[in-house]
Amino acid sequence: MKTKLIAPSLLSADFGNLQRDIEMLNRSQADWFHVDVMDGRFVPNISFGFPVMKTVQQHAKKFVDVHLMIVEPEKYVEEFIELGADLVSVHYEACVHLHRTIHQIQSKGAKAGVVLNPATPVLMLEDIIADVDLVLLMSVNPGFGGQRFIENTYKKISETKDLILSNSSTALIQVDGGVTLDNASKLFEAGADVLVAGHSVFSSQDPERTIELLKF
Ligand code: DX5
Ligand code: ZN
Repeated sequence: MKTKLIAPSLLSADFGNLQRDIEMLNRSQADWFHVDVMDGRFVPNISFGFPVMKTVQQHAKKFVDVHLMIVEPEKYVEEFIELGADLVSVHYEACVHLHRTIHQIQSKGAKAGVVLNPATPVLMLEDIIADVDLVLLMSVNPGFGGQRFIENTYKKISETKDLILSNSSTALIQVDGGVTLDNASKLFEAGADVLVAGHSVFSSQDPERTIELLKF
C-alpha cells in the first residue's frame, strides 16, 4: 500500500451540504476520507461526533480514516469502528495505555494509527512502532483547519522512516496540517505515504482538480 494517497479532511467540508461533498470525494481521485473528531478538551475546538460519522458511513465509498483528537479515546474507538471506521488514529499524548488502545482498535477489525503533536519527538514511538499500522505526524498544532505548515515535519518524516525500517514495521506515514499544492510533492518525496488536506481542497475553485494535482 506504499503509494501517494490523498485523504481530504471533512473538517473543511460544507456541513449544510455534507452528502454533496462526500459524493464529490467519491467521484474524485481522493483515496481516503479523513474524519477529524475534536472534543474541546484535548484540543481547543469542538468539531463533530457520531451523527456526522453516521452520514459518512451512509455515503462514503472509500476507506474511512478517523483522527481522534479527544481525551480517553479508548472509551469511543469501538463505536467509531461500528460506524464504519477502517482506521482509527489516537494521539500519543492522549493515551495513558497506548499499547492497550492500539490493540483494542485492531481487535475490533480496524487498522490502528498513532498521532504525534508537533512538539512530541519521534523517538517516543520506539516501543510501539512494531504494533501500529500508521504514524500520523501533525504538521500543525491540532484543533483547526487552514493553519500554516510547520517545516520541522520534514525532519520527523525522515526519523519516522528510519524507525520503521529499523523495526521492519509496515506502518504508513501520514502528514496532517497545512498541506498544499506547494508542499505535497516534497512531502511525498520525503517519505510521506498519505497526505491529509482540508483547506487546500475545499477552499479551491475546483476541489476535484486540486485532489488530482496534489498527487503529482
Ligand atoms: C487539524 C486536523 C486536520 C485539519 C487539516 O487539527 O487534524 O486534519 O483539518 O486541515 P488543513 O489541511 O486545512 O490544514
Ligand atoms: Zn486530522
